[in-house]
Amino acid sequence: MRALTWQGKRDVRVENVPDPRIEEPTDAVIRITSTGLCGSDLHLYEVLTPFMTPGDILGHEPMGIVEEVGAAVPDLQVGDRVVVPFQIACGNCWMCLTGLPTQCETTQVSAEGMGAALFGYTRLYGAVPGAQAEYLRVPQAQYGPIKVPEGPSDDRFVYLSDVLPTAWQAVAYAGVPQGGSVAVLGLGPIGDMACRIAQVRGAGRVFGVDLVPERLNRARERGVETFDLRSFDDEKELVAAIRDQTDGRGPDAVIDAVGTEAHGSAAARMVQNASALLPRKLSGPMAERFSVDRLAALHTAIELVRRGGTISISGVYGGMADPMPMLTLFDKQIQMRMGQANVRRWSDEIIPYLTDEDPLGVDDFATHRVPLDEAPRAYDMFQKKQDGAVKVLIKP
Ligand SMILES: NC(=O)c1ccc[n+]([C@@H]2O[C@H](COP(=O)([O-])OP(=O)(O)OC[C@H]3O[C@@H](n4cnc5c(N)ncnc54)[C@H](O)[C@@H]3O)[C@@H](O)[C@H]2O)c1
Ligand SMILES: [Zn+2]
Ligand SMILES: [Zn+2]
Repeated sequence: MRALTWQGKRDVRVENVPDPRIEEPTDAVIRITSTGLCGSDLHLYEVLTPFMTPGDILGHEPMGIVEEVGAAVPDLQVGDRVVVPFQIACGNCWMCLTGLPTQCETTQVSAEGMGAALFGYTRLYGAVPGAQAEYLRVPQAQYGPIKVPEGPSDDRFVYLSDVLPTAWQAVAYAGVPQGGSVAVLGLGPIGDMACRIAQVRGAGRVFGVDLVPERLNRARERGVETFDLRSFDDEKELVAAIRDQTDGRGPDAVIDAVGTEAHGSAAARMVQNASALLPRKLSGPMAERFSVDRLAALHTAIELVRRGGTISISGVYGGMADPMPMLTLFDKQIQMRMGQANVRRWSDEIIPYLTDEDPLGVDDFATHRVPLDEAPRAYDMFQKKQDGAVKVLIKP
């Protein structure tokens, strides 16, 4: 089959690779009809290169048609239309039963000290072949895949794999009081969707911050009060502008939908570039230690949130030695919640919103739909935020 493979920093290629097949009785194989390109893939493209191996198949946001099922997958049949969550979880261990499938104790990558395995997401998360491909082997298929009805286009459902549950969890963890205020940092797919979900879940005011004009426009058109980072001299000015809108206190909650992709200092970028050139043994630990100054958005969140408010982090951070302003966090009595989204924990609550009325605007959420062969170009466009790219769906 054809698949998008990682070859090196900013180098992805579509190649012929062996077809996946059933390896365990709990596996299924699906033929992919749509698969998303995610901000998390950009971390692999640029920053997390020390954890990648050339030839790794990327992608974790698939939906498609079941082609083959293992003997221990009673609820799936060949021909079923399914969305596959980005994490691999058993549904049956203590963590899964507590609603934390991203911590699944059956698939945890304990050799690396990490949580549940993820599709297409470095050796830290199990080096599982990803979903930007024609076919995908789905382990633990007795639990993961979500059956969806025939009829509406893939766009209606595909975001159940990641964007919707991630944004849903971001809003749930933010704990915005009914009628209260929330600021969303970053208006990529996750931040944009988090704004929409906050609105339908009863937030009174939703503020959105980014620096890409099309992304700001998209959010503004849906009633978000937007702030363009480029029009402020520094973080203090931005914080002051949003405080002005919230009785001088700051919003009840701040969602960080940026992560380590934040526009850090030139020095931080140099450290990251240098670490990508080091031999593998050294560069892994270096990438863990040196994400200093890659926390721009998180620091903004800490300044911005009102005293006693909540910060909900869905952006992915990777450092081990990032200085945190503990004095401010403690003094402002800030609550923080974070983590990979627990897809099946939220999916049943989300599905009622995926109707013809389309309250979340999923039907035209994608800005680009491309064939698999054009995926390398789509990575470049999405990373550079060119051509109005916000959400790209690959159609193998
Ligand atoms: N927790 C999860 O399960 C989960 C799932 C999916 C994605 N993610 C993470 O969520 C984040 C967002 O994903 P995405 O697909 O929307 O990616 P994205 O890269 O398209 O979006 C990030 C946005 O943040 C903006 N930005 C950069 N620096 C900023 C700053 N200092 N202040 C405000 N905005 C800033 C960028 O212009 C961009 O629009 C990524 O870190 C991704 O890895 C987490
Ligand atoms: Zn994703
Ligand atoms: Zn489990």
